[in-house]
Amino acid sequence: MRHTRVKGEPRFPDGPKADPAGSHFERRIRSFQPRRSRVTAGQADALQRLWPKWGLDIDGQRVIDLAELFGNSRPVVLEIGFGMGEATSEMAAADPDTNILAVDVHTPGQGNLLALADRAGLTNIRVGNGDAIILLREMLAPDSLDGLRVYFPDPWPKKRHHKRRLIQPDFLTLAASRLKPGALVHCATDWEPYAEQMLEVFTAHPGFENTQSGGGYAPRPDFRPLTRFEGQGLDKGHVVNDLLFRRVPHRDQPTAEG
Ligand SMILES: C[S@@+](CC[C@H](N)C(=O)[O-])C[C@H]1O[C@@H](n2cnc3c(N)ncnc32)[C@H](O)[C@@H]1O
Repeated sequence: MRHTRVKGEPRFPDGPKADPAGSHFERRIRSFQPRRSRVTAGQADALQRLWPKWGLDIDGQRVIDLAELFGNSRPVVLEIGFGMGEATSEMAAADPDTNILAVDVHTPGQGNLLALADRAGLTNIRVGNGDAIILLREMLAPDSLDGLRVYFPDPWPKKRHHKRRLIQPDFLTLAASRLKPGALVHCATDWEPYAEQMLEVFTAHPGFENTQSGGGYAPRPDFRPLTRFEGQGLDKGHVVNDLLFRRVPHRDQPTAEG
């Protein structure tokens, strides 16, 4: 018989929390819109079964030990906004010596990625539930990441929503502080005005240098599979741009506080 959830009862008792950081954090413009989309039976099963093992609620309450989280000291790449996780699991399978901390707020996607990782026998993915900004700011130590991936972040095309875009100077300052010198940051977007904004803010930021000797966009690296959102953009005739920047060695630059 189908269990009817009583109001206030968690959707997945052993799964991700609905609002892990709670309301103790400041009001802030978010780069995502909360969605309550349907979770399939397979995703619900993966959330129940695998969240206790591979899930991380982003509650902003502690700095995490990445070696402890993954059970080894291999390099860790943060992926922000993995969507349904197909590209994430493909990249994890292709490079088992790299750990991927994949973060999104979207519950069906979290379940989907857990199920994909389980089915493929992957052990190098951990799934974060919540806002990547809180993760970076409150839960990751300085110089702890070996890379950052942001594939097809929400484009927020309307001018009045541009402030919601993830890739902004303050975000880059925060990310730079958590990345090791030499770490690669890889972004891709099918929204050309956003690509131009990304290129402008990365190029102007003292914490990063372009891996492309002439500046500009990078050719799509072989290691990035086509993502679900990218496929939708290509169907609409959108042009995809990749950006590959490197965290420069430490010098005087803005701090990430605040
Ligand atoms: C347009 S989708 C792209 C998904 C996937 N990368 C792809 O290419 O198919 C952007 C995703 O980023 C997530 N997102 C946006 N801002 C975020 C944030 N601050 N923290 C975590 N996830 C975020 C959204 O929930 C959404 O799933």
